[in-house]
Amino acid sequence: MTKTPASPARLPSSLVLVGAGKMGGAMLEGWLAMGLPPEAVTVVDPVPGAALLALADRRGFSLNPSVAPSHPPEVLVLGIKPQMLDAAAPALAAHVGPQTLVVSILAGKTVADVKDRLPARAVVRAMPNLPASVGRGITGVYADPETTAVQRELAAALLAGIGRVEWVAEERLIDVVTAVSGSGPAYVFLMVECLARAGEAEGLTPDAALRLARATVEGAGELLFRSDVTADTLRRNVTSPGGTTAAALEILMASDGLEPLMRKAVAAARRRAEELSG
Ligand SMILES: NC(=O)c1ccc[n+]([C@@H]2O[C@H](COP(=O)([O-])OP(=O)(O)OC[C@H]3O[C@@H](n4cnc5c(N)ncnc54)[C@H](OP(=O)(O)O)[C@@H]3O)[C@@H](O)[C@H]2O)c1
Repeated sequence: MTKTPASPARLPSSLVLVGAGKMGGAMLEGWLAMGLPPEAVTVVDPVPGAALLALADRRGFSLNPSVAPSHPPEVLVLGIKPQMLDAAAPALAAHVGPQTLVVSILAGKTVADVKDRLPARAVVRAMPNLPASVGRGITGVYADPETTAVQRELAAALLAGIGRVEWVAEERLIDVVTAVSGSGPAYVFLMVECLARAGEAEGLTPDAALRLARATVEGAGELLFRSDVTADTLRRNVTSPGGTTAAALEILMASDGLEPLMRKAVAAARRRAEELSG
């Protein structure tokens, strides 16, 4: 896997977003905040919620236009639930031309699945994660070989609106991305729960244990975010030989510690993602 360059490429001249729910809505807000002109944006979401209606009112992008566009857009982003693709596809054909890049965030739907349902030549498949809702996500991305370099840059620029972007060279690796960063926020939340319960078992009140564990993960995450050094270095820096952290890490880093457990967990998530894709 390679990191995308930090410098943003140009944004699309025209974009249609299909499905502006939790993830589509977060992307839309990110794009507008990045400077994508509202007049370049059309949102298709048949039953828009109050937040989307208010955003359309405030920012002035086109929402559910009654007239079909005269030209297909440069980019169409699929933000619907995967199970809605079959139902939504017939109405979307007018929004996809030979030059249109389709960016799909539909979990489990392959590039072939999208091409089977839409007249798309170029498809980018992306797997965002929950912190996208606060602009701090990371999205794993796979580009179908039919995409051009310009289209891949467009996709990267758009996905940068919700956080960082990590390209994978093979489509099957999207299932691994799902297992690491897609499902990963839940592993971190579980870490907070486990740390709190351990503190409680040692005598803290449940509330105090939760506050301590939660703030620890928040703070450690922020430190990682702000720091240029690796997690490994940050860990070593807070581990004095013979100290308290070292005593805990001896358990966590034992041959039956956290690493083999995490490997099993990630492998299970990857296998489940493969099953769902089938
Ligand atoms: N949320 C995450 O953390 C996450 C992470 C990775 C990938 N994803 C992917 O992101 C996609 C969206 O997930 P989500 O959590 O954002 O779901 P969501 O909140 O339910 O958003 C889907 C939106 O699509 C709308 N919609 C339904 N049918 C439509 C149609 N025919 N045309 C246009 N819009 C339509 C829905 O409207 P109604 O509410 O009226 O049905 C809703 O606003 C999924 O494919 C999921 O796999 C999500």
